[in-house]
Amino acid sequence: TGLFTYDSGFLSTASCKSTITYIDGNKGELLYRGYPIEQLAEHCNFLEVAYLLKNGELPNAQQKDDFEVTIKRHTMLHDQMIKFYSGFRRDAHPMAVMVGVVGALSAFYHDALDLQDAEHRNVSFNRLVAKLPTIVANAYKYNAGQPFMYPRNDLGYTANFMYMMFGTPCEEYKPNPVLVHALDTIFTLHADHEQNASTSTVRLAGSSGANPFACISAGIACLWGPAHGGANEACLEMLEEIGDVSRVGEYINRAKDKNDSFKLMGFGHRVYKNFDPRAKLMRKVCYEVLTELGLENDRLFKLAMELERIALEDEYFVEKKLYPNVDFYSGIVQKALGIPTSMFTCIFALARTVGWMTQWEEMMTDPEYKIGRPRQLYVGAARRDVVPIDQRG
Ligand code: CMC
Repeated sequence: TGLFTYDSGFLSTASCKSTITYIDGNKGELLYRGYPIEQLAEHCNFLEVAYLLKNGELPNAQQKDDFEVTIKRHTMLHDQMIKFYSGFRRDAHPMAVMVGVVGALSAFYHDALDLQDAEHRNVSFNRLVAKLPTIVANAYKYNAGQPFMYPRNDLGYTANFMYMMFGTPCEEYKPNPVLVHALDTIFTLHADHEQNASTSTVRLAGSSGANPFACISAGIACLWGPAHGGANEACLEMLEEIGDVSRVGEYINRAKDKNDSFKLMGFGHRVYKNFDPRAKLMRKVCYEVLTELGLENDRLFKLAMELERIALEDEYFVEKKLYPNVDFYSGIVQKALGIPTSMFTCIFALARTVGWMTQWEEMMTDPEYKIGRPRQLYVGAARRDVVPIDQRG
């Protein structure tokens, strides 16, 4: 009848029932399958967390080994996929490349895919989680004009990713364990975050029965925006623009000015009205990485710390409960790791693929699942008749 609840931005609409991730935004609490993110970051590596999200329980030692072997079996990209990269301009944004290449996986794994078959869905999960590091590293190599590195299955998931990113055929590359651990923690912290914009996109796309690889591509497209996953890139660009500690006040004032559209990137969150628990962990990782690399006096890091200090004391940010979010620190860590700014959101997409696929699977096996079809409040013209063109004003 046209009488629907209006909820712009879905501030109060639960779109699904889920058993995967729990967030208490007021307390600043994040649980994956009931486990606090702090404990998972301390005791588990990313693949264990991926297993947990997917299966609902942490793996035992045997299950962990088996899962690692299974994932490694899928790390190679189909050789024809490699040709996709050369269709892009060298300077294409790697997220644009990701949207295209991941979407193209649907052309390779479509006909044989029976979405009603649990094993088929399982293989799709494994393929995506295994291939994303290869796809991301290739996007980087393409941009850098370096040869693609084939995955090395004698390395762990994250160490192999760093090898494919930073290794070259000319010299041996040994990933630094402290830095591997830091990146692995970044993956864990980004693995899932309940019904955020990109996850909702994946669910909505998947609700029509679309190919899962195409659905993940849709999620990547959504993640790209600066209000979502693109914030870490935007945050680092903002720090570069501020340039010096002496200019922090000026930018804080701009963020507070109602007539200025500028927002402090890396601050605020739809759900967290307290410190983002991922940000606290990322802050710790940030110190560890900078210390390991002897970059404690890094200019941007000092600038970020000053920005954080002022914002946390400023009435505007306190009143609106705007705390630093995970992206505020993750960009600084990634930069220190040698990852170029334009790749930050790709790293996020790599990790979030686990969450997207887990959420997709939950939807596909939900007996109440229906195609997602929001309604609207129509506020356009009332019914009217078409006037012949020669009589239109
Ligand atoms: N700087 C200055 N003012 C802000 C900021 C900010 N970063 N964030 C929110 N506000 C203000 C906003 O202008 C609004 O003011 P008013 O009540 O006077 O209209 C008030 O705070 C509430 O904000 P909102 O935009 O209504 O909140 P939202 O839930 O719609 O948006 C957000 C959340 C994350 C999009 C927003 O805080 C933002 O744009 N932050 C910067 C981008 C960013 O860091 N995004 C990463 C999010 S975490 C990673 C992820 O999940 O992808």
